[in-house]
This record gives sequence, C-alpha cells and structure tokens, in this order.
Amino acid sequence: MTKSNMFSLVLSTTILCTVFGATLRREQRVVVNDDYQFDWSISEDILMITVTAGTAGYVGFGVSPEGNMNNADQCVFGVQNGSPYLNDYHSQKAGFPTIDTDVGGTSDWILIEASETDGTTTATFTRKLITGDVNFDQPILSGITKVIWAFGFSDSFEYHGTAAGSVDVVFIEE
Ligand code: HEM
Repeated sequence: MTKSNMFSLVLSTTILCTVFGATLRREQRVVVNDDYQFDWSISEDILMITVTAGTAGYVGFGVSPEGNMNNADQCVFGVQNGSPYLNDYHSQKAGFPTIDTDVGGTSDWILIEASETDGTTTATFTRKLITGDVNFDQPILSGITKVIWAFGFSDSFEYHGTAAGSVDVVFIEE
C-alpha cells in the first residue's frame, strides 16, 4: 500500500453530458489505486458516490480545501456485523474527526446502501453540492475539488496510517 498524493490518477474516464430537459448529468469513474475506486454522478443539486475499497473495515470519503484533514468534511462508512453504517464527520486538522451532529451540525452524507464481500466494501451515498451546514461542510463548486480518502482494516475507527490520500476531481466544469 502506498500513500497516494497522486493527482487525478484516473484510469478510466467516462463523462456523459446529457441534457434531460433542464438537467445536466455527469458521471465519472476515478481509480485512486488498487484498493480505492469511486464512481460519481451529479443530478441537479445532488452528488452521488459509489466507493469500492479493498477492506472489510471502515472507509472514509470526503472533501477538503488542501487535500488533507485540515477543515475537511468526511463521511465514514462500512458494514459491521452485517449492518451498514455511515456517519458525517468533519475535522479542523489531522486527527480524530468529529461527528457533525455531535456539535450542532447536520448529517448531510446520506447512505443509500453498503455491502461487504470477501474483504471488499462497496457503498453508495449522496450529498447535496451545497449542504447548508456552513460550519462543518464546504460547498462543492465548479473547478477542482480535492477529494480525500482513507480506510482502516477494522470497523473500530482508528488512524488509517498510509491508507489515505487525495485526488483532484472536477465535479462541475468551470
Ligand atoms: C480515527 C480517525 C483518523 C485519525 C486519527 C487520523 C489521523 C491523521 C493524521 C495524524 C494524519 C497526518 C499524518 C499522515 O499523513 O498520516 C492524517 C492525514 C490524513 N488523513 Fe486522517 N485521520 C483519521 C481519519 C481520516 C479520514 C476519515 C479521512 C478521509 C475521509 C482522512 C484523510 C486523511 C488525509 C487525506 C490525510 C493526508 C494524507 C497525506 O498527506 O498523504 N483521515 N490523518
């Protein structure tokens, strides 16, 4: 496992721009490394993500201005004892993040489904591009968004070690 700061390691890219009435829809697959890939699509003001990660432990996905844990908005998800879970976290700096709702924020990453098979976790979730949780979320705007990722090898939420990094994604063209 290598720490990935590589930008835009996008091995397979499909951008579909289709006008359904007034709705512009885009989709793309981002391959960060052998152990972390995600598909995204935007429909109106909703971003939908499907992550596949090579772990049976927790998985994190988020956005942050610097591509690290400074002022980051993350969700952490997985399947524990057969039950899917997802929580909306934020962090001001590197270290254990805080659940938004524990400090007066709102839960804005919404789990659609999660499953775990043979050491691989797959989860689909959504987030509004602009959540309105101004203290703990950053809006996803046009241009480059720094997506952060991480995972651990158990569902007890502990330091990810080298299994974390960032990738630049343009969710909305400028
Ligand atoms: C128990 C929870 C966590 C702890 C204790 C923790 C701790 C840390 C620490 C100490 C660092 C700085 C040292 C290093 O680069 O490894 C770091 C970096 C980082 N963390 Fe976390 N973290 C946690 C969860 C998360 C989550 C959920 C995400 C993403 C969704 C994340 C994303 C990152 C990223 C992108 C970096 C920068 C890595 C790099 O520069 O290559 N962390 N974390």
